Amino acid sequence: MNEMTTIERIQTGDELERCPFPIPIGWFAVALSDELKPGELRNLHVFGREWVLFRGEDGKAGLADPYCPHLGAHLGHGGEVVGNTIRCPFHHWEFDAEGWCKKIPYAKVMPGIARKKPVLKTLPIEERYGAVFAWYHPNGDEPSFPLPDAPELEADGYVPVRRGQWNIGTMIQEIGENGVDNAHLKFLHKAPIIPPVEARPDGHKFHTNIGQGYIVGESHGPGIAIQRFNNQGVTMLMFAMSTPIDTEMTLTRMAFTFLDHPEGSKERGIAEHLYQHSIGAADGEDSAGFESVDLIVWDNKKYRPQPLLCDGDGPILMWRKWFSQFYAEPVKP
Ligand code: FES
Ligand SMILES: [Fe+2]
Repeated sequence: MNEMTTIERIQTGDELERCPFPIPIGWFAVALSDELKPGELRNLHVFGREWVLFRGEDGKAGLADPYCPHLGAHLGHGGEVVGNTIRCPFHHWEFDAEGWCKKIPYAKVMPGIARKKPVLKTLPIEERYGAVFAWYHPNGDEPSFPLPDAPELEADGYVPVRRGQWNIGTMIQEIGENGVDNAHLKFLHKAPIIPPVEARPDGHKFHTNIGQGYIVGESHGPGIAIQRFNNQGVTMLMFAMSTPIDTEMTLTRMAFTFLDHPEGSKERGIAEHLYQHSIGAADGEDSAGFESVDLIVWDNKKYRPQPLLCDGDGPILMWRKWFSQFYAEPVKP
């Protein structure tokens, strides 16, 4: 019996916070690549605060604190991309994607600190799979793990990537917990049985296998979850990118693809069905996808730090323990 089932008093809803955790550490998609052309900038609200996202003429994207280190003007209101830098509207200081001040048009000498280090806070950026990823760490620490490999998104022979995005009214830990909660698959999603689940933490990765190979998943930190749906030798990739807007709101973007089997073939039919089924467009066939049912739960639930679990539940506490490594401050179990 695990310790969580020995609790003596069940907390009421009044005592629970919806989302009691800080923004987790990890790689998070902050935009799709085609939303940001060279020379463009956008104001963004992610990680519970404001940022300005821009792309230099060299194609390199930057995500910066929007408040200018000079006198605090907002770079996203009146600022412009000039060459490979973002230029503040107030006195035209220019900063590159790493936050170095590259130009002060009226200074004879660059201030000492600006010659030694970046003066504008920026986040490390990597661009891959058609998305701009930022590394978030509340203390500004450097990336501690890489972006995952998802060969289907880069190889030839796959159907053009299909995308979707959803605003989900909860934190990522709660969304990801679905991947180990096999009991809800029968009762919420109406699967014919409770499929078995295997789960294995592995450093910054977490592996799951639901229904003996039907859904094989790997999370790479909090922000990226790859799931492969398999049926009769056909595989459909779901690449989910979840980004904390703040501590209670998540934007989940998904990319789907599968091998480009000929139209009309049996394999094509199976792959299309796996795709439709995964998002909920094939409701009423064998079970409901996340869009039609999970969102109702996620948008309205509260987090129970001490859940009342039963012996048929999946490895919920294993998931929570794994996820806790992505909070910079220790959190209560
Ligand atoms: S406040 Fe930005 S250049 Fe002066
Ligand atoms: Fe679900």
